Amino acid sequence: MHPSIRLFTYGSPDYLLSLILRYKILRIPLGLTYSAKDLESDQSDFHIGAFENEQLLGSLILTLNKNNTIKMRQVAVDDTFQGKGIGSALLQFSETFAKLKGFEAIHCHARKTAVPFYLKHGYTIVGDEFPEVNIPHFYMEKSL
Ligand SMILES: CC(C)(COP(=O)(O)OP(=O)(O)OC[C@H]1O[C@@H](n2cnc3c(N)ncnc32)[C@H](O)[C@@H]1OP(=O)(O)O)[C@@H](O)C(=O)NCCC(=O)NCCS
Repeated sequence: MHPSIRLFTYGSPDYLLSLILRYKILRIPLGLTYSAKDLESDQSDFHIGAFENEQLLGSLILTLNKNNTIKMRQVAVDDTFQGKGIGSALLQFSETFAKLKGFEAIHCHARKTAVPFYLKHGYTIVGDEFPEVNIPHFYMEKSL
């Protein structure tokens, strides 16, 4: 697949599509929803999506932290399109974007089930397993 990877704006129709996707892929399987607080930082974050014919196949968010680091979060690919390189394309776009913004590293809180995906892309585990949204996670980072 060769989806087009691009930024989209908070509050746009594409953003609403991403909320639906995030809810379906990252929350429903855990029996969770989003609170207003969960979505608070979306407004000032960068939203990146993989589109084919205006259909959103996957998305992620980049947060610029106050301590001048960049965090990748909410990485989700629609389940019928997983395993087709879309997550990889989103990561590559994000890493280039972060590098162009002058960051030397990017990090994320990786679900334990997704750790092999990030390892394949050169991320390394830092520290011990910790719980987030009731499931095991690892802090992972990559130098850019
Ligand atoms: C994890 C996720 C983002 C990966 O996106 P994707 O489009 O399915 O991944 P890709 O097709 O780009 O896969 C790239 C490589 O990683 C591997 N990979 C992807 N997900 C994997 C997983 N969960 N475990 C092991 N390997 C995985 C693929 O097999 C592929 O390997 P290959 O290059 O040797 O064929 C996606 O599967 C997803 O949304 N999963 C559910 C939500 C989730 O866990 N999000 C991450 C939260 S931290």
